[in-house]
Amino acid sequence: MNIILLGPPGAGKGTQAERLEKTHHMIQLSTGDMLRAAVAAGSEIGLKAKAVMEAGELVSDDIMIGIIADRIMQPDCAAGFILDGFPRTTDQAAALDDIMADKQLKLDAVVEMTVDDEALTERITGRFACAKCGAGYHDRFKQPKTPDTCDACGSSEFTRRDDDNAETVKARLAAYHGSTAQIIPYYREKGILRSVDGMAAIDDVTREIEQVLETLQ
Ligand code: AP5
Ligand code: MG
Ligand code: ZN
Repeated sequence: MNIILLGPPGAGKGTQAERLEKTHHMIQLSTGDMLRAAVAAGSEIGLKAKAVMEAGELVSDDIMIGIIADRIMQPDCAAGFILDGFPRTTDQAAALDDIMADKQLKLDAVVEMTVDDEALTERITGRFACAKCGAGYHDRFKQPKTPDTCDACGSSEFTRRDDDNAETVKARLAAYHGSTAQIIPYYREKGILRSVDGMAAIDDVTREIEQVLETLQ
């Protein structure tokens, strides 16, 4: 099964993808994570993407389409993947169709996670992640079971993203409403768009996504 999790910054794409990876053995393909790894490695793509990401704008379609075309070819994607953060423009959506047709892959569903803009800022500014294994947390909504200790790996080191501040969130939301939301009708017309209430509690959102996936099997 191959799906897209689509939603604004802070909608819970990464949180839900992390869970689906475990329950469905699908691979999470987060373009944001790939770009952050490229920035950390100081690669050519990382150098180009750094300032764009810090400004909350979109990295160019050429770069993003190239990254995804390469990634989908890797053998670990054969079991199914969850696209998280891609596509984000109509050109990226069209390119994804071409890449998948070329490899005779099927896009089973696009799961749109709807969340009010007001809730997103609080989600993003309270977010942190384990520095060692990347598990995601929130100051209020998802604290580690033992304070300052990662549930998954026991590490006590945590990080916050450079673009997780109120100022950059405004630009990221503008990019979402200005470009990314335009791909929603594209998938609705194809008949594969499913919407879930991303305002619900994390476990309830998981349940709703699971119900969508059940209809696809
Ligand atoms: P990216 O990393 O994709 O960031 P984003 O889309 O802004 O989304 P986030 O990762 O912020 O949110 P999320 O939906 O994953 O939420 P999460 O689960 O963490 O992209 C970063 C940048 O890279 C972009 O701005 C752009 O510059 C560039 N980029 C990436 N892809 C690109 C592309 N295709 N084209 C061009 N540029 C690209 O949840 C957030 C917090 O809320 C967490 O703390 C979590 O614990 C909490 N939470 C989650 N769900 C709930 C819930 N239901 N209730 C309460 N709290 C919740
Ligand atoms: Mg994310
Ligand atoms: Zn960890």
